[in-house]
Amino acid sequence: MSLDDLFENPDRFRIRDNFRASHIVFPVNFGGKRYIVKKTKEFMDFINIYYWFQDLFFYGSRIISVNCPDKGLEEEARKLKILEGVHSPKMIGYREGVLVREFCEGEDFRSIRSDKQIQTVLEEGMAALEQIHGKGVIVGDTNVKNLFDDHRKGVIWFGMSGVFKESPMALARARDVVKFVYSTYTITRNRDMTFYAAEIAARYKGAKEGVRNLVDPGLSSLRLWFPTRIPFFDSLNRNIKKILRS
Ligand SMILES: Nc1ncnc2c1ncn2[C@@H]1O[C@H](COP(=O)(O)OP(=O)(O)O)[C@@H](O)[C@H]1O
Ligand SMILES: [Mg+2]
Repeated sequence: MSLDDLFENPDRFRIRDNFRASHIVFPVNFGGKRYIVKKTKEFMDFINIYYWFQDLFFYGSRIISVNCPDKGLEEEARKLKILEGVHSPKMIGYREGVLVREFCEGEDFRSIRSDKQIQTVLEEGMAALEQIHGKGVIVGDTNVKNLFDDHRKGVIWFGMSGVFKESPMALARARDVVKFVYSTYTITRNRDMTFYAAEIAARYKGAKEGVRNLVDPGLSSLRLWFPTRIPFFDSLNRNIKKILRS
């Protein structure tokens, strides 16, 4: 059996239902080993359109390409190749809209219940992001739900399939950092945890200036409400910004 068989008909090797994701993502058993297959959905469904609008509001100037869905997986394959399995799943192969990645064993961010472990994953996730940036790669969708606590490799990032026109790079890195912070609130709904994420992000010296440029004065609570659910008429956003500027 060659990898061609897997690319031709990945569903034949499927071992469970799709994961919760905007792409079609499922594990396979191929030649006695497990892998993850990722494919694009043929039509953009409601939830993807919703996410697309969220990003548009959140990022403002970040231009998101939607007219060619396969481009996203191509882009993810390109990034994963550069990262060589460090702080990300290893790329096994990519062919015409089908991406095969290493199977990772561990816990999804949203399945972690203890505050202590959430803090650790946020810390390691931010450190991983710095390393990834150091290799010239922008994650793109740094929503913390794309963090994964891999039992072997430590904390890794999924979510590299966005296609963005990014320039300058310093601002692109800052967008990754800012989304990490605000999505902590969206996913955990925990104010203290969000301040914690902001404190970790504020320590990332290389992104500092870009982050400052992004939050001041652009990220108003009004604009952030739809994509992040940060309440307006509330001190939460003001305090996050204060930490990020410190
Ligand atoms: N290599 C992997 N090993 C284990 N689980 C994975 C792997 N890749 C993805 N998953 C699970 O599937 C989810 C969706 O994958 P992801 O690449 O983020 O797709 P999408 O870009 O559509 O969100 C992840 O959040 C994770 O829970
Ligand atoms: Mg994801």
